[in-house]
Amino acid sequence: MPRKKLIRFLENQQRKNLIEPGKEFFGKLKGKWNELYFSNKGEIVLELGCGKAEYTTQLALKEPARNFIGVDVKGARLWFGSNYSEKLTILNTAFLRCPIYKLDEHFGKDEVTEIWIPFPDPFPLKEGRRLTSPFYIKKYLNILRKSGIIHFKTDDSILFEYSLNSFTECGFKAIKHSYDIHNSDISGPAREIITNYENYFIKKNRKICYGMFGI
Ligand SMILES: C[S@@+](CC[C@H](N)C(=O)[O-])C[C@H]1O[C@@H](n2cnc3c(N)ncnc32)[C@H](O)[C@@H]1O
Repeated sequence: MPRKKLIRFLENQQRKNLIEPGKEFFGKLKGKWNELYFSNKGEIVLELGCGKAEYTTQLALKEPARNFIGVDVKGARLWFGSNYSEKLTILNTAFLRCPIYKLDEHFGKDEVTEIWIPFPDPFPLKEGRRLTSPFYIKKYLNILRKSGIIHFKTDDSILFEYSLNSFTECGFKAIKHSYDIHNSDISGPAREIITNYENYFIKKNRKICYGMFGI
């Protein structure tokens, strides 16, 4: 393993804001994030497949009364958001290392108010692994409040079409959507916060699709 990655894994083990197997809070926060982990009782917002967790950290700075959790299976990526939050003492963040199909082992019914899914892997040949497949959307429905919202961004228009259908199939309505958010009248964090992958796609002149879904 490259030395830098190894150092990051060791740093992750020391970080209180990074919840991963073998650590104090791992597996013990279901239904209790606001009771045991956060210092405020604010709404909980998830960023799934967060990578460097730009939505988690930037939204947490803008909205200190709400709590933001970046979820990813890769510790080397979670290190970035965790490190940034620690350096800036952003207390309303957490970073959870787990596969997303296990979300309901970590969150209780109605515990989550909002979910962001920025630039998930498109898995062209493996529909079941897409984070916007009905399999995954049904998982989100187990933890999302009735009035909850899901935001989704991608540069892949085929995945976007597919996801519009999946959300509809699972009972969601598209509240807003655009095949080119940066040339649309949509404003706010969906447009303003640019993730690492989005930055790469914008440089390649790819159009960025965005959908906001509610029941
Ligand atoms: C294409 S990257 C996008 C990262 C970030 N959202 C961005 O926009 O820069 C997809 C991320 O999702 C994570 N991921 C993919 N499938 C996952 C799963 N089933 N459970 C947890 N994380 C997953 C990967 O580890 C990776 O960090």
